Amino acid sequence: MSYLNKKTLQDIDVDQKIVFVRCDFNVPLDNGTIADDKRIIESLKTLKYLVEKKAKIIACSHLGRPKDGFDMEFSLKPVADRLAKLIDTKVIMSSDVIGEDTFKKINNLNPGEILLLENIRFHKEEKKNDREFAKKLASMADIYVNDAFGTSHRAHASTAGIAEFLPAVSGFLIEKEISFMGEALANPKRPFVAILGGSKVSDKISVIENLLDKVDTLIIGGGMAYTFNKSKGYKIGTSICEDDKIDLAKSLLKKAAEKGVKILLPVDNMVGDDFNPNCNAKLVDSDKIPDEYTGLDIGAKTQEIFAEEISHAKTVIWNGPMGVAEWDRFAIGTISIAQALSDNKDCVSIIGGGDSAAAVEKLGFADKMDHISTGGGASLEFLEGKVLPGIAALMNK
Ligand code: 3PG
Repeated sequence: MSYLNKKTLQDIDVDQKIVFVRCDFNVPLDNGTIADDKRIIESLKTLKYLVEKKAKIIACSHLGRPKDGFDMEFSLKPVADRLAKLIDTKVIMSSDVIGEDTFKKINNLNPGEILLLENIRFHKEEKKNDREFAKKLASMADIYVNDAFGTSHRAHASTAGIAEFLPAVSGFLIEKEISFMGEALANPKRPFVAILGGSKVSDKISVIENLLDKVDTLIIGGGMAYTFNKSKGYKIGTSICEDDKIDLAKSLLKKAAEKGVKILLPVDNMVGDDFNPNCNAKLVDSDKIPDEYTGLDIGAKTQEIFAEEISHAKTVIWNGPMGVAEWDRFAIGTISIAQALSDNKDCVSIIGGGDSAAAVEKLGFADKMDHISTGGGASLEFLEGKVLPGIAALMNK
């Protein structure tokens, strides 16, 4: 599913209209303070466009996973405050979602102003994709814009159900996510290399299966590589391994060989005598990890082999770090991949969200990448080729 045929904000007249915009303002909070406002910043292009068009904007989002009903801990108030600082218009916050306060504030909203609703997940009907609830949300507006890429894998009332009742288009963030990731999956410039890391094979099985039909090379690093290497008969010491996935790993390697997809696995690793940032560490070949050692990063030879492959690529999708990148000593492999990607100026570099996005940001390579997805689960499901209900529900061109 590439979704390149979906209508966007450019395809609809929003002048002076009441526009319901679903954003993903599910930002990390640290004691009530926003720890990372990337998702708010990424929503600005759509919101500013609507402000310029003098639309009356109703912005909606979830935050976290509250149980039922209002809970101050999950209030969107910090988001409203941050948004007000980032955008040059009045941002009003309503104290409910479909209650009296919201409808009163919509009536008083001036063109170009934003009304941010309270956390939509304070209503249990949201996650149930309740049709009546979706209809009520739709009754507030003339047009529905979905810009919540990070939540587009959820079939909820404000992400999918509402689209049944209003003309529904994507915002600029979803458009950008689709154009990078959809284009890469549908018409990649070749060679097309996917780099997968992270700890578990089980999290990435469907991604690997989907990508085997599309990529020229699959680079596998991070914790999941040990299960693959064990399936090849390697001694992996106490490295993370899903023993019940060894046969599957073997069959994925066989499938790749049948399809002519080149697979690169680590040939050496930095290993430690304990899973601890201050452990005694050494570099060993990946097939001879000593019994009492655990793999913590890819080694120097592996970094070179992976970087060489990346240097010829024209499209790269990367999801998952190469080692325990949150510990500086074992972030070297992940840094080497980020470096190789930024050195290859001829390549479209796409970072799937979640851990790899966090690693690229933390290691200072964010501005060197062509696209860093704002979706964690959503970008994974996109790469798996699954239907994303929040995008599927939008109008076709
Ligand atoms: C995310 O952060 O992945 C999205 O906002 C979706 O949140 P959810 O997993 O709680 O549905």
